[in-house]
Amino acid sequence: MPKNASKNSPKKVLNLSRRPRRLRQNQTLRDSLAETELRVNQLVQPLFVQDGPTTPIKTMPGQSRLSQKDLLKEIGICMKAGVKSFALFPVVNDPKKDSAGSEAFNKNNLAATTIRKIKAEFPESIIYADIALDPYTDHGHDGVLKNGKILNDESVELLVKQALNMAQAGADFVSPSDMMDGRIGAIRECLDLNGFTDTGIMAYSSKYASSFYGPFRDALSSAPKSGDKKTYQMDFRNKSEALIEAELDYLEGADILMVKPAGSYLDIIQDLNQNFPVPIAAYQVSGEYAMIKFAAKAGAINEKAAMLESLAAIKRAGANLIFTYFAKEVALSKRS
Ligand code: PBG
Repeated sequence: MPKNASKNSPKKVLNLSRRPRRLRQNQTLRDSLAETELRVNQLVQPLFVQDGPTTPIKTMPGQSRLSQKDLLKEIGICMKAGVKSFALFPVVNDPKKDSAGSEAFNKNNLAATTIRKIKAEFPESIIYADIALDPYTDHGHDGVLKNGKILNDESVELLVKQALNMAQAGADFVSPSDMMDGRIGAIRECLDLNGFTDTGIMAYSSKYASSFYGPFRDALSSAPKSGDKKTYQMDFRNKSEALIEAELDYLEGADILMVKPAGSYLDIIQDLNQNFPVPIAAYQVSGEYAMIKFAAKAGAINEKAAMLESLAAIKRAGANLIFTYFAKEVALSKRS
């Protein structure tokens, strides 16, 4: 025994009043103390629908452009697993696209007929109908393009018509993802005047101009043919404009505010959660999904663990509702 060591304080025991590791000793203890829990009924599964047979989306392994029939089947599987909310995205065939996106106002377009079928078969599902013209325009922008510019007020007029069409088809929520100024108030007014006071607005409020939308645009062939979306979607270097956009949408009557993308924007989710007394949604977008899928395929990460970790982080930041292509997978993994 060294001279200066005493029996009561063995050399290797640190005199610590707090040992945080004590609370991490085993799984049962960790589970009992977990602050965040991902609930399956808070997840929204985005789904792509197209005319014709189902085709896989190469850049989104596990996701497909579904025929109406397969889409209804898929919704049945999700509902059984506990995922009952869906965001619907139609693939619009090129001949139906024009500069004004007129197919968006067709009462019998693919989105409208699909929503009617979903609500007939699954009345207890919740359907979020995307409001933006990009799947319908031949130039791929979310609004009206004139001389290289996206015209705001002219676009809002068309988005209002699209929203009314989706409400008439039976959507529970219309989800403007276009980022034009003033669209929430205009849509709210039109829905109310037409008797759709119970149709909600889930506003893509803080939506950034992001490279993470790549696979989605590939799925819908909706990438802009000229320019980019930076004059309407937000600059990812900024935070204050996210708060301004959220405030405007809140004041104009949005029921739910969304942050998009999610994983690289956790600070924005937290800010919105702390500043607005309405539910906050976050969208784990196509590129975030693809990164996890392809990294796992390459053997770089464990897919299921990365999926759950990424979603727990979004939840921890303050999201009440999470749009994620992993929704069904999470629900099924919780059962096994
Ligand atoms: C349409 C829209 C987009 C997404 C949802 N709605 C693409 C875009 O704005 O270019 C992206 C979703 C995803 O990447 O998963 N405006």
